[in-house]
Amino acid sequence: MTNLIDGRAIAEQIHVETSQRIAALRGRGVQAGLAFVRVGEDPASRVYVGMKEKTSERLGIKSTTTVLPATTSQAELLVLIAKLNADASVHGILVQAPLPAHIDQATIFAAVSPAKDVDGFHPVNVGKLMLGDLTGFAPCTPAGVHELLIRSGVKIAGAEVVVLGRGNIVGKPMTAILCQKAKHADATVTLVHSRTRDVAAHCRRADIIVAAMGVAHFVKANMVRPGAVVMDVGVNRIPDATAKNGSRLVGDVDFAAVQPFAGLITPNPGGVGPMTIAMLMRNTVQAAEVASSV
Ligand code: GUN
Repeated sequence: MTNLIDGRAIAEQIHVETSQRIAALRGRGVQAGLAFVRVGEDPASRVYVGMKEKTSERLGIKSTTTVLPATTSQAELLVLIAKLNADASVHGILVQAPLPAHIDQATIFAAVSPAKDVDGFHPVNVGKLMLGDLTGFAPCTPAGVHELLIRSGVKIAGAEVVVLGRGNIVGKPMTAILCQKAKHADATVTLVHSRTRDVAAHCRRADIIVAAMGVAHFVKANMVRPGAVVMDVGVNRIPDATAKNGSRLVGDVDFAAVQPFAGLITPNPGGVGPMTIAMLMRNTVQAAEVASSV
């Protein structure tokens, strides 16, 4: 029997649920709308936004994308966000990160209306997540990892979870999700990072490892207790002379070495990645439902 968690298949299940909600909204005369904003021509951001646009279209969400030049000022970007905040046909807004260095990311994320913040990056939504208030939006990648654990039947309550990486997009919110006193949570969570003294020792006692520190193939077989669940969030580009463009994408987990020992493991690609988009679509339909409810 395989120990792979098929993120693509689980994302498709969620898409089916989301499309039904989109159709129900349409039945009430509401067209779910999602606005993407991209600043500059970061190649990875172009690919990511392109994938999100395609999925929106497939599910029946009306998406619009504004691409601004890399020289756009912070003030100009704030004007666009204010316009999208005021546009009733837009239920969700996603400003793709990273932004050019002269723009302060935190200021931009805080300018998006919390009710349209389908990324879950606004301080109000970050606070709600920490408080266990489900009326906010959870960031898509950690929410996707959580959903994969739930739908794979992994016992989270009481589990020892080690989250690798303390970023605002994955590591910190992942910790907040799993430590809640709530169904499908109640875990004992350890957040390890670049200044942690003995990362391997923490990992070895984990029932669940979430690798999100952005270091290619960091998690090795000797860091994984046999039977542990391994979730790989990493997207790292490494040189590969055999690849057409001279490089390839790999995760934070040394998959070939770790898979034989893992109870369950996400492939990469095809594990967490598709779930990030599935959660974005779900957050968008939630935003549209709340905005259109009487
Ligand atoms: N860049 C990398 N991941 C994300 C994400 O989840 N949302 C946005 N807006 N930008 C990102």
